[in-house]
Amino acid sequence: MDERNRFGTWQIWIAATGALVSGAFLLWAFSRPGTLGLYRWGYKAPFLALMGLAAFALIVTGAYRIIASKTGRRIVFLGCFGAIVAILSLGVGGGVATFILLKAYGGDLPAAADKPILPDPRLGLAVPASRSLRVALSSDPHFDRDISNHEATAAILTRAQAEVQAGSLDAFFMLGDFVEMGFLASGWNAALGELKRLAPDVPFYALMGNHDAMVGGDRRWRAAFQPSGPEAKSINDQQSSQAASDQPVFQSAAFAQPSPYMWRLDAGRVHFIAINLPWGPEDFSRRERTWLAAQLDSIPQDDFTVVLSHSFFHSSGYVDEDTGMPWYEHAENLVSVAPLLASRVDLVVSGHNHYMEWIEADGTAWAVVGAMGGKPDPEPSYRSTGSVFFSRGKFGRLVLQLVTAGLSCSFEDISGQTLFSRIIPWS
Ligand SMILES: [Fe+2]
Ligand SMILES: [Fe+2]
Repeated sequence: MDERNRFGTWQIWIAATGALVSGAFLLWAFSRPGTLGLYRWGYKAPFLALMGLAAFALIVTGAYRIIASKTGRRIVFLGCFGAIVAILSLGVGGGVATFILLKAYGGDLPAAADKPILPDPRLGLAVPASRSLRVALSSDPHFDRDISNHEATAAILTRAQAEVQAGSLDAFFMLGDFVEMGFLASGWNAALGELKRLAPDVPFYALMGNHDAMVGGDRRWRAAFQPSGPEAKSINDQQSSQAASDQPVFQSAAFAQPSPYMWRLDAGRVHFIAINLPWGPEDFSRRERTWLAAQLDSIPQDDFTVVLSHSFFHSSGYVDEDTGMPWYEHAENLVSVAPLLASRVDLVVSGHNHYMEWIEADGTAWAVVGAMGGKPDPEPSYRSTGSVFFSRGKFGRLVLQLVTAGLSCSFEDISGQTLFSRIIPWS
């Protein structure tokens, strides 16, 4: 083999190694929850650039090798260009993969002592017999983002803490987007630190948002919010003994979850079901769908069923300037998941859009409460036809309370002022 052919062979090996590294990284990335959604929701460029560079390097180095061996000519420009592209492909692919994987898998996961109270939903929610269920929900604090409204987040958590201490709040549901980039440990440390510091006595139930899942962030979300290990046992023991002493309305629901991202919580005659739609239904598996249908079938029709999702179904919204994607009326959720819920469940609560909104459509109420501190989304250019209440720029929460007339649903601002209220009557 002469010098030219040897040079060409080395180039191809470098380009092939680059393609292998990039390909393996992309395979890993797309195996993680949320990455397909990220790709489909307008963020194709980084993935296509990585694949394109690897393919281009293979083509250029292959062409040089063939021409050099067939003609015996020294093609200096093509040879040098091929070498540069091959090294670039390996460097970029290896660099990106190393950076993301080290961040996603490196560093310590949160210790039990750093986490807030995270009861196991499968054990049900104990409500003292002396009063009725009252819970709060909000979403999208984006704790570690500079432009998030951290004072609003703190006010919401502080209020929840005071209410739990006063015995007037049973739980807080957070519907995702705790952090901006889920694969970074720093964001989770900030988020958990704030929950623990400001709301140490509040029982939290959590969903995974698209930002939490960002490129392998699912591992850190699970480490942060999955009730497991000794700490979950002690919390569960604590909850069980409280249930016994208060003689609560308590229904135990020991059923297997279809994934870490879907759960059911029974609170007397109110049933909460969390579903796995971080961007949309990209990661919503057949197993999860079957489980959801079975849970809905098992809940008595005259009880209240509240479904929780990160991404919205009906929502007012806007067209994203950068991606051109419509952030309103989530077409895929509405087509593939909403038919399971419409006219069957009483209320669907989501985040994702940073608004507060109440929509009545298809025989069900749809609430959006992405108002826990994340930067408000733009003024909507589209208004959902069923929209009854809409608020942009205010932060707050949705409070659900079981009352004599039914399930009271109130949007409140950070000071506790009611912005809008509806009662879903008993059926
Ligand atoms: Fe968000
Ligand atoms: Fe989101």
